[in-house]
Amino acid sequence: MASLTTTLGDYAFQNVFMNASGVHCQTEAELDQLAASPAGTLVTKTGTLEARAGNPEPRFAQLALGTINSMGLPNLGIDYYIAYAERFQEKHPGRPIFLSVAGMKPDDFPLLAQKIQDSGFTGLTEFNLSCPNVPGKPQIAYDFDTTEAILAAIFKVFKKPAGVKLPPYFDLAQFDQVAAILNRYPLTLINSINSLGNGLWIDPATDTTAIKPKGGFGGIGGQYAKPIALANVRAFRQRLRGDISIIGTGGVTTGRDAYELILCGANLVSLGSILATEGLGAFTRLSSELESEMAKKGYTSLAEFRGQLKTL
Ligand SMILES: Cc1cc2nc3c(=O)[nH]c(=O)nc-3n(C[C@H](O)[C@H](O)[C@H](O)COP(=O)(O)O)c2cc1C
Repeated sequence: MASLTTTLGDYAFQNVFMNASGVHCQTEAELDQLAASPAGTLVTKTGTLEARAGNPEPRFAQLALGTINSMGLPNLGIDYYIAYAERFQEKHPGRPIFLSVAGMKPDDFPLLAQKIQDSGFTGLTEFNLSCPNVPGKPQIAYDFDTTEAILAAIFKVFKKPAGVKLPPYFDLAQFDQVAAILNRYPLTLINSINSLGNGLWIDPATDTTAIKPKGGFGGIGGQYAKPIALANVRAFRQRLRGDISIIGTGGVTTGRDAYELILCGANLVSLGSILATEGLGAFTRLSSELESEMAKKGYTSLAEFRGQLKTL
């Protein structure tokens, strides 16, 4: 029988699947439903220093092969998610979870880091450097100088396990440059990838965009993102220090997709668009499909094939 247990840094998880930040994780009720699902762990909605209402609706749409969204980081504020995480760890000792946070400007990041450092939170923190959907705000991790400055400021105050959520990169020189920066900091993980930023979808019946914010531009997820996600996980696995783990995100709609992200080096696999469109049942379906794929290949544990992609 195949086991889906996994590890990331010093942490162990009963199942390799988790939600992707932003999907089914904004409120306590949603987070509790994730906790009661087969997912091995969960991550909160990206929290900012102050609560945010986000962008005007409609701001999310299901497409033929995935989703488009321009949510604009609606969230209940970092204090809400820290309080939830503290309560969670009291109720569920030994079940580590992730906080996701983002600054609206670079100077917010050390403030967020200090808040979490000063809290009782014992899990892992994902600093989101890649939200494509806040009007007027660039995706930080496409600006390498700002990325380095933010990491330096975070790690001046932050001593707990930390990671960064990255946007997709498309050029091998970018992978080299970003990995060189990341390897200089005591990161426990990266999460790759966030949505493909600023896609556009047009309704053939009405010639209009699918969502309202930013003239219809939005982050693309689902099957459209899979080859890019595989490439990003693989490229970073080849370049990052061995002690930096990877959460593989992007384009996972079947157990086979998850298997391929693990072949590229993922320690955990997170579900965004498919969780948004199929609901929590996706964890059960994908777990069983991944077990079948492993059985077909003769594997009983994820460690046997993690990172073992074959090339010609
Ligand atoms: C509705 C929605 C909201 C999202 N909000 C966030 C967020 O708050 N923080 C974040 O890091 N990523 C956010 N994302 C990106 C996802 O976490 C994920 O990286 C992306 O959707 C790619 O995965 P997928 O192909 O499985 O959808 C959001 C995605 C969707 C669809």
